[in-house]
Amino acid sequence: NKEKYELLARKNEEALQGGGAARIESQHKKGKLTARERVHLLMDEGSFEEIGKFVMHRAKDFGLDKEHYLGDGVITGYGTVNGRLVYVFSQDFTVFGGSLSETHAEKIVKIMDLAMKNGAPVIGLNDSGGARIQEGVVSLGGYADIFYRNTLASGVIPQLSAIMGPCAGGAVYSPAITDFILMVENTSYMFVTGPNVVKTVTQENVTAEELGGASTHSTKSGVTHFSCANEVEAINHIKKLLSYMPQNCEEDAPRYAYEMGDESRPALNDLIPDNPNQPYDMREVIEGVVDADSFLEVHKNFAENIVVGFARLAGRSIGIVGNQPASLAGVLDIQASVKAARFVRFCDCFNIPLLVFEDVPGFLPGTDQEWNAIITNGAKLLYAFSEATVPRVTVITRKAYGGAYDVMNSKHIGADLNYAWPMAEIAVMGAKGAAEIIFKKEISEAADPVAKLQEKVDEYTAKFANPYRAAHRGYVDEVILPEDTRKKLISAFKMLENKVDKLPKKKHGNIPL
Ligand code: COA
Repeated sequence: NKEKYELLARKNEEALQGGGAARIESQHKKGKLTARERVHLLMDEGSFEEIGKFVMHRAKDFGLDKEHYLGDGVITGYGTVNGRLVYVFSQDFTVFGGSLSETHAEKIVKIMDLAMKNGAPVIGLNDSGGARIQEGVVSLGGYADIFYRNTLASGVIPQLSAIMGPCAGGAVYSPAITDFILMVENTSYMFVTGPNVVKTVTQENVTAEELGGASTHSTKSGVTHFSCANEVEAINHIKKLLSYMPQNCEEDAPRYAYEMGDESRPALNDLIPDNPNQPYDMREVIEGVVDADSFLEVHKNFAENIVVGFARLAGRSIGIVGNQPASLAGVLDIQASVKAARFVRFCDCFNIPLLVFEDVPGFLPGTDQEWNAIITNGAKLLYAFSEATVPRVTVITRKAYGGAYDVMNSKHIGADLNYAWPMAEIAVMGAKGAAEIIFKKEISEAADPVAKLQEKVDEYTAKFANPYRAAHRGYVDEVILPEDTRKKLISAFKMLENKVDKLPKKKHGNIPL
């Protein structure tokens, strides 16, 4: 038996070497960790169990029959992160550039199937030259097997993708279907076709970083939710993100111990400027309300006119959506609507209650918005809120104008509770615009049109620029002092803890895409 044990030890040692010392060194020189180093950083110490360590490819063409590496370019398995089960695959760039072969795909599929059956998140650490070119269509089939499972797993278990090197061509579509993407600055990129193809087809000169680096995708396209300074930061971010999520759609997110104390937050009383046209940072409202240091912003630098992210309220995980008056006055545009809609749907999939802070002057006007379908895209947010069955609470901090009032988690579309601060203005539009339209004739015929306009603006302001019309109707459940917001919300979400709400029986809805 001794020889057999030695053979096993040798094979285990060989598998640890991936594509060999020289390639590992080259990986490190690029400022990248190896696939194994990443897995060990991610998992609780000693918890990682590898599956398929000795798998080898079956290809014979282009000399591949003479080149084999144990594991075939991807490390797969399970373990725990902060004590909770997760499945992981980590592509090994030192083996055929981390390219995806038939067997490499089979290994990923195997852990995805296990994750689905056992109800735990899948984390993909991507670092790959794409489909293994020597294998042709079988590697494409492998991708499709993964995409199909990504889709079936969507809404069942959380799926997170970290991009830690190249991710090009078809490879991008697995991360794209998963719930969250994290990219590492300067060492990762994602694109459907690389700079050379771009140059040939569109004559554009663009570097890989400009075309699909972390900064591009975290600001311009919104493809990535997080841009991380380095791989360690990305892995720590994954761990943090997981802490707000349940293991699967049947469970609730972990609850953190919280001892109730004085929940009044007087500083909130001074956040909103007296002049309703002056901006303020909605993040200050959010951070003033939620548990200290618990706010984890998603899509921080993309569509900044809306803020979304996870936080905790008295230890309970919540998803937050807030209009951001500090950017474009908090207007809803295409990108903001899509960003928020996707976030709302994630929270609804995974039983994370939704808290909305509303200060919205309406939808952004203009040809750019109309021609790029603000109608269809704005409808996504309306749809996402309307179909969400998790506990839903809104706080109107200032403006709630026009159709955007309806869209931003109003009671009419199923929110459980709506609060308003005393400076809330709930109206079809701002007082000046409203006065100019409804008193147009009167103003133009007046001896002093400027004075008349002001008179009418004052009249409209007195009638509508407040939360009381809505409160009289019950569209607002309570007008509250900002300092009491945290207390009210803790109580509201506790009251809603066992909420049961079912959508009508259907195969699935048809969200406007
Ligand atoms: N299939 C098979 N092998 C691949 C591969 C692929 N798709 N992508 C990379 N490799 C191999 C390379 O042949 C090289 O092998 P070696 O170490 O034996 O020399 C190794 O992976 C590293 O690749 P290299 O090109 O030296 O690394 P790089 O960092 O300079 O470039 C890429 C990385 C991804 C930009 C480049 O490898 C590339 O363009 N790959 C092809 C991408 C593609 O078109 N994929 C198919 C479409 S999905």
